[in-house]
Parts: sequence; structure tokens; C-alpha cells
Amino acid sequence: KNISLNIDKVLGTVSKKQILDQETKANNCIATLHNGDGKGNDFLGWLHLPSSITDEELTDIENTANILREKCEVVVAVGIGGSYLGTKAVVDALNNSFDFLLKERKNPILLYAGQNIGEDYLYELTEILKDKQFGIINISKSGTTTEPALAFRILKKQLEDAVGKEEAKTRIVAITDKSKGALRTLATKEGYKTFIIPDNVGGRFSVLTPVGLLPIAVAGISIRELVAGAVSMEKKTGIEVPFEENLSAVYAAVRNELYKSGKSIEILANFHPKLHYIGEWWKQLYGESEGKDNKGIFPAAVDLTTDLHSMGQWIQEGERTIFETVISIESPDHRVEIPADDADLDGLNFLAGKRVDEVNKMAELGTQLAHVDGGVPNIKITLPAVNAYYIGQLFYFFEKACGISGYMLGVNPFDQPGVEAYKKNMFALLNKPGYEKESEAIKAKL
Ligand code: PA5
Repeated sequence: KNISLNIDKVLGTVSKKQILDQETKANNCIATLHNGDGKGNDFLGWLHLPSSITDEELTDIENTANILREKCEVVVAVGIGGSYLGTKAVVDALNNSFDFLLKERKNPILLYAGQNIGEDYLYELTEILKDKQFGIINISKSGTTTEPALAFRILKKQLEDAVGKEEAKTRIVAITDKSKGALRTLATKEGYKTFIIPDNVGGRFSVLTPVGLLPIAVAGISIRELVAGAVSMEKKTGIEVPFEENLSAVYAAVRNELYKSGKSIEILANFHPKLHYIGEWWKQLYGESEGKDNKGIFPAAVDLTTDLHSMGQWIQEGERTIFETVISIESPDHRVEIPADDADLDGLNFLAGKRVDEVNKMAELGTQLAHVDGGVPNIKITLPAVNAYYIGQLFYFFEKACGISGYMLGVNPFDQPGVEAYKKNMFALLNKPGYEKESEAIKAKL
């Protein structure tokens, strides 16, 4: 089985012909990606990444993960954006939702830092680590990002104070550029085990490099299955695959047609709370890739049915500028049957004996029909189950579609110049050496 795509419920807004007419454009964009002659072509390393990961690389990652797994009750993955979201997405989707309460643990608890600058967050994290055996995976491609650098500085000191400098070195792994950046310099000086993030793989496309694979392996998840899923999708979305069979090309074409028809917001919806961070990962992938040159679909995400009780009204009857992409799960992992109740005070005995998933599926179908009736076209992506293989497929499907879609839109999907603006202001406000002129200018504005 494989993940699948159903676009029937967009056809009230854009026609089959409109979509099919995109074939040549989509195929040209795929050719541009594969020939490497389009915008941002120095960041195409993700394209053949799954099929080029070697057994040795995976073994090295697994061995390093095993060292951390043996030594540590808690491993803190330090990173932000593309150096964080892919791991969080996989681990949350595949681990027990109440993992932190499990008494019999097979895996260390994975915590995160460097994805914010919240002082209380860092205080509480350092407090909770006080009586724990912990290790750190410090992830930064540039090696200079403020949020993770700040968190790492604090955690490194805590670890060295707790176990001594020599032991700390065995519990710290750095994942960064092969030669550039402060983290590379630090790792070389301290002698940490390191992994390289390839130059030609941007942050938001890096989940299948050690950036994602090491912490995911630490969490006890099969990185081989994850990669195998991505390899299969790399083949299924290859240049030789006809347009209508190429899920990534069709998704890219459909969302661009919807965008042209005035649908400028895409909400990625799930009906399983474990998939929340898949939505966060996807938002970064599409938001950073397409939101530029005053263009781009705004990517939002909702957890359903939860958010039907908060965002449902807007989706159903607000400004008609949205379309919805649902990630649907064919079979959940576990069964829970609804019990009969003699008193039936809640009136739910008509559901007795049914699985909770039957109710969830009808909520999903009912929502789809209601939203389509309300003018919200619906794309459905179905995963046969939630496992590492299908998530690997899903990741690559979205990455490939993002590259195609960005080129169809006419932007460079592989840069993110806008991310620098807040950093410049923050450094100016903090009087960072070298920012004297900017400091003066920004203070004059206050
Ligand atoms: O997509 C991107 O490039 C960014 O979101 C980065 O992933 C993020 O800023 C983290 O960068 P770095 O890994 O260099 O610390």
C-alpha cells in the first residue's frame, strides 16, 4: 500500500480540464528540478537524498543514537525551524501520546530546546534536567542561529557541571555544516561526535539527513523504514512518471489552480492529534518556500475535530478564500470500542459496540461534505496507517510537490531572505558588536 491523493472535491471550484491543462507546466517544473537549472538550484540536495543515503550512514547514525540511548534518560534536541520540526513531527506521530508518563521505558525521553527564547521554558527545562542523566544533540546548519546557540550554551554548562567536561563530550553530538559556522568550530575544539548537513540541503528539506534521523533514532523509531518510505515516493514522483500518476505534480497543480481562483489560504487538517506537528513541519515547508515576492498561499493547520469547536465557524462561513487539505488515516493502530450503558443518559447507545474510529471517520466525512458545501474545496491525502514508512512517503511527497509548486508560482522555493529581517532588528536592539549603525537607526524609530 501507498499514500494516495484524492482531488475529486476540488472539482466544484476548478475543473478537471484546468488541472490537466497544467500538465506541461508541471512537467517543465519537474524537469527544471531534475536538470538543476532553475532558481535556487544550489539547494536541490533533497531531490535524490532518500535514494542516496548509504547503509554506512544509517549505521553510523544508529550507533551514535545507541550510545545516547544507553547513557541518557533524557536527550535534548537543540534546534529551530528545519533543524527541529521534522523530528518533532515524526516522534509525536509515532510515539505514545503519553510517552512521558510511561513507567517502563525502552527509549530515552526526547525533549527540545532552542526552538524559542522563552526564559520560563529554559528555566523549567534546566530544573527538570537537574536529577536526570541527559545528553544533547545540537543541530544548526548555519551554526550561528541565536535561539539554539543560546540554549546550547546554557545546557552545555549544566551538563559539564553535572558530569564533568570529559563525560559531557561523550553525551554531546553536533550536527552542522561540514566546515563553516560557530558550531563547527566549537565541535572541533571540544572533540564532539559530529554529523554533516549537506551544503545543498536547506533546513526545511533536511529531515532525512542526520538533522532528523539522529534524534528520531534516539527516540527508538526505525529510520530505515522512514527512509524506505521516502525512497519509494522518490521513485513514484520521478521525472518519468506521467503527470496524472505523479501525486506531487497533481497536488502542486491543483493548489496553484485553486490559488489562481482566489483561494489564498490552505489549511492542512488532521483528525488524529498525533499529527499536529506534521502540520507544523508542512507550514514551514510551504510558508518559507512560497511566501515571497508578495505571493504565496498562506499555509495554516488545524487539528480536527478539536478545532471545529474553535475555527470551525470561520472555515464554514468566513471569507471564502480557503481550501483544505486533509491528512486522513485509513487504520489507526489501536481499537477502542464504545461501551453500552444501561441508563443511556447521554443518548449514545446507538453507537455502542462501534469503534471510536467509526465516529471519527463519520466526523471526517461529515466535515468534508459540510466544508465543500460551504465553498471550501477539499484535497484528501490518505495514509494507510501511521508508521515510519508512510510518514517517509508523506515527507517526500510534500517536498517534491513544494519544489514543483514553487516553480509553478514563479518563486525561488529554496531561499528564505525574509527570515533575516527580525534577526537584524533583534541584534541592533541588543547592541550586537558590528550593528552600531542599525542600533542607532532602530532606536530612532522607537
Ligand atoms: O528553513 C530554514 O532554512 C530555516 O527555518 C532554518 O531551518 C532555521 O532557521 C534553523 O537554521 P539553522 O539550522 O541554521 O540553525
